[in-house]
Amino acid sequence: MIALSLAEIAAVVGGQTHDIPDPSVQVTGPVVRDSREVVPGSLFAAFVGERVDGHDYARAVTEAGAVAVLASRPVGVPAIVVEDVQTALGALARHVVRRLGATLVALTGSAGKTSTKDLIAQVLRRKAPTVFTPGSLNNEIGLPLTALSATEETRFLVLEMGARGIGHIRYLTGLTPPRIGLVLNVGTAHIGEFGGREQIAQAKGELVEALPPAEEGGVAVLNADDPLVRAMASRTKAKVVLFGESAEADVRAENVRLTDSGQPSFTLHTPSGASDLTMRLYGEHHVSNALAAAAVAHELGMSAEEIATALSEAGSLSRWRMEVTERPDGVTIVNDAYNANPESMRAALRALAAMGKGRRTWAVLGKMAELGDEALAEHDAVGRLAVRLNVSKLVAVGGIEASWLQLGAYNEGSWGEESVHVSDAQAAIDLLRSELRPGDVVLVKASRSVGLESVAQALVETGAEGEVAAR
Ligand SMILES: Nc1ncnc2c1ncn2[C@@H]1O[C@H](COP(=O)(O)OP(=O)(O)OP(=O)(O)O)[C@@H](O)[C@H]1O
Ligand SMILES: [Mg+2]
Repeated sequence: MIALSLAEIAAVVGGQTHDIPDPSVQVTGPVVRDSREVVPGSLFAAFVGERVDGHDYARAVTEAGAVAVLASRPVGVPAIVVEDVQTALGALARHVVRRLGATLVALTGSAGKTSTKDLIAQVLRRKAPTVFTPGSLNNEIGLPLTALSATEETRFLVLEMGARGIGHIRYLTGLTPPRIGLVLNVGTAHIGEFGGREQIAQAKGELVEALPPAEEGGVAVLNADDPLVRAMASRTKAKVVLFGESAEADVRAENVRLTDSGQPSFTLHTPSGASDLTMRLYGEHHVSNALAAAAVAHELGMSAEEIATALSEAGSLSRWRMEVTERPDGVTIVNDAYNANPESMRAALRALAAMGKGRRTWAVLGKMAELGDEALAEHDAVGRLAVRLNVSKLVAVGGIEASWLQLGAYNEGSWGEESVHVSDAQAAIDLLRSELRPGDVVLVKASRSVGLESVAQALVETGAEGEVAAR
């Protein structure tokens, strides 16, 4: 964080100082909520959770070097006491970003926020110091904590914003008002909670409503290929920049194809030039993510060549998203178990088909959560797509949704042992351990709640044991 005295922080958050001998002492380290992350100079934010109460760690964090605790009650060590720690954290973030000289870039969407945020960061940091959301910390606590991790040197602050309802994005943009706002897509993630796609569009569009007008530098970066996102142009005073594969996009991809290893290759067109690239990431959904990142970077003054180079070298910074492991015995494991929705299932299956040309392919899939009334139809469609893409084996894991996946495959013409339904992750692991053979490609994917990464991890480890045994 930029250095601030305890007195200044107390004033900004409207808090009372307790047990603070010298209010001019400065917080120079990060603001953290996890006691294990405290380093000398930190400010520790004490949240009361379901299982742990941060206030119980007050003494320990002080001993570890925290300058003070942001707390909702006195704790016997230096503290700034406020009514509500979350509100105080938000106020502090707002104060700090106002003082920073950094450009704020915020993004939202139904799928691909983290992947795209990681791409944007990997492009922009070639130009200037960049701070970005770690992992998926995109909510009312993770967002201010990320903003507070910026320093005087930070030029770009890239923030992922998540929403589970109307007003959530508005709240987040109130804390850290972006100059550039990007909306990726309106899909079906969390549709059960939202009520429908229109409501999701309403909620995501709050991002572009919060942007400054074009004259003040506001830029809305919108997906030209997604009608509900494209329509958000009418909800902003900012300059509108479109990305996508459609001809009207300002930043677009041409000659898109997947290489034999499943990596997207295309020509990137920007208003100031074009450049060819092949990505290191897997799956065609990254084309859209890359174009979004390119549109942001172009707005911030980078050339098509610089952007293409950065995108072609960008890796996966967050785990379990199309994470590819080559086992010593020639089996390829694709761990995309971080999360799943219909769009990302389709993208992952297409990547599997491309990677598995001439090889035996396995799709180990579990349920896609929160689809409301569309759940049966969407699982059925994914099962059918697996067959249409010629995936050799479908292993549907879990309860009723898995049986819909398997039935979809069956009805599309998969027969015999080409598609099976197993009850849980362990059953899938047992089956795959006995069936996999050198050369196979295995995709593992389901919603977060299913926890299928245990399957991917077990399969990766099986390969490692094999290697040891072979020596
Ligand atoms: N543009 C895209 N369209 C569809 N699926 C995508 C896209 N980009 C990434 N995905 C897939 O969606 C899943 C989630 O990706 P990612 O973590 O980037 O999304 P997110 O929007 O940050 O999710 P969350 O809401 O959980 O934070 C992954 O399986 C990934 O492969
Ligand atoms: Mg995310």
